[in-house]
Amino acid sequence: MFKLQWLVATLACLTFCIGDNVSYDSNAIIINRERRIIFSGSIHYPRSTEAMWPDLIQKAKDGRLDAIETYIFWDRHELQRQKYDFSGCLDFIKFFQLIQDAGLYVVMRIGPYVCAEWNYGGFPVWLHNMPGIQLRTNNQVYKNEMQTFTTKIVNMCKQANLFASQGGPIILAQIENEYGNVMTPAYGDAGKAYINWCAQMAESLNIGVPWIMCQESDAPQPIINTCNRFYCDNFTPNNRKSPKMFTENWVGWFKKWGDKDPYKTAEDVAFLWQDFFNLAASSTIITWERFCFLSNTDEKNDATIDLQGDGKYFVPAWSVSILDGCNKEVYNTAKVNSQTSLFVKKKNEKENAQLSWAWAP
Ligand SMILES: *[C@@H]1O[C@H](CO)[C@@H](O)[C@H](O)[C@H]1NC(C)=O
Repeated sequence: MFKLQWLVATLACLTFCIGDNVSYDSNAIIINRERRIIFSGSIHYPRSTEAMWPDLIQKAKDGRLDAIETYIFWDRHELQRQKYDFSGCLDFIKFFQLIQDAGLYVVMRIGPYVCAEWNYGGFPVWLHNMPGIQLRTNNQVYKNEMQTFTTKIVNMCKQANLFASQGGPIILAQIENEYGNVMTPAYGDAGKAYINWCAQMAESLNIGVPWIMCQESDAPQPIINTCNRFYCDNFTPNNRKSPKMFTENWVGWFKKWGDKDPYKTAEDVAFLWQDFFNLAASSTIITWERFCFLSNTDEKNDATIDLQGDGKYFVPAWSVSILDGCNKEVYNTAKVNSQTSLFVKKKNEKENAQLSWAWAP
């Protein structure tokens, strides 16, 4: 009996003792039985040289992030079909190892269609030119290439033991990207078949950590649908068993040449965050010491809220207050002080000023 128990314990251990058990419930991502709030930030590895990575990662850590998120950039890795390049700033395995060395997690958004303010969303040109191909839909030519590339990336991570289930830093992986935004209008039923196929293909790769999709309100289970928006406080995932997460909190927007600066204040970002937690906490069971959130979602009018017996609280328009013990204001999002830097466009005032231009390859 003792031996049998020991054997069962050992077998369970072989699967999970070397790595982290990443799962989830409706409240949160759970890492080794602990519910976690994961704060992640983006560093896209090919946008810097590899010599810059350690410093960038350290800055992310100093900024108190738990995880670093990146896409995988298909066009750079497979410039010509089946001729792969993972050297220099494309060595994402090394990038992930450095993140692990720094004690942070990785959120790997494979795509491999990634948008990402990147040429053609990361699709290689040869893919576009394949006979009979239709991109991002239920098309066999495309699906074969997508599966080949996705499998290759996953296998590289497995060989380097990079999934959390293997003791590595990757706690979440993403398949496709914001497909729900285009699925129905552009692809109809074929789009629906494709996203189901994406989910099955991803699940069959057996990575041992959860898969996510973003902006996919009908995400096939068990894939977690996540939010990308300016305001994700009111977001709810499509499955009651999925936690509420956002993969992109837009703190800015593209600036068009000559246009005004799109500008979002730190107070506004703080508001959205606290409202996110406020709504998450009231819709799920989060046991903290006794805290109250007072949320004023009126954009113009301040409010005074009377907590009977616990005093009156002034809550400025579009802000959230946090009360410690439900009777002492410790934080209000309208009172965040932050420095803001804005570009200012100026005329060159020197007379006959000449710009000198040069081209670099
Ligand atoms: C992983 O954690 C979840 C949630 O805590 C638990 O239900 C599951 O049994 C665990 N898996 C293993 C193999 O320990």
